[in-house]
Amino acid sequence: MLPTFLPFPPPLRARIKEGGSTATIPPSRPSPTEREEVQETLSLAARAPHWRTDFPINWEEDHDVTRREFVSFLTLISGALLLGTSLVGLRECWRRWHPIHPAAARIAQVREVPVGGVQLFHYPTVNDPCLLVRLSTDRFVAYSQKCTHLSCPVVYRTADQEMHCPCHHGRFAVEDGRVLAGPPQRPLPRIILTRNNEEIWATGVEI
Ligand code: FES
Repeated sequence: MLPTFLPFPPPLRARIKEGGSTATIPPSRPSPTEREEVQETLSLAARAPHWRTDFPINWEEDHDVTRREFVSFLTLISGALLLGTSLVGLRECWRRWHPIHPAAARIAQVREVPVGGVQLFHYPTVNDPCLLVRLSTDRFVAYSQKCTHLSCPVVYRTADQEMHCPCHHGRFAVEDGRVLAGPPQRPLPRIILTRNNEEIWATGVEI
């Protein structure tokens, strides 16, 4: 292909394109229009950034790599999520099949908790906060304070007589810990209580 910016007059171009000799063609000076054309082409070439030719970017290949990386990332995340969910499910199954029977622990004196009152204690370990609620003179209930949705600490609402989670407004019945409303799907773990004269003892956890 003949470069368009070369200053050959049209007849000479035609001859060169046909493969003919230029010997018989008398030399002629480029016309002013052709000169302008050449000048414009040269100035365009001078303005083009060198990096385009020195460091060309293969956009197509670049997109391919990004897509591949993205798919690998998605696969990795999906695998991690699947593994995490399976482990949580297995742990829950294990805990249901093997109820916890920790050592009994004295958690309160009867006189310390008035009717309608609440007392915080930890059971079975110091990392397990629980709430003891006195519903009547002779009736006590206790639950883990960790909400079964995302483990926010639940509180007892005396006015509503229910356990309430302030994070996403999960509500649990104070009588048995069942879910009344909100995102939680499982009841609050219940602490098994035993009364020994004037003492309240925790003797196990019912999940
Ligand atoms: S953490 Fe309790 S409702 Fe979400």
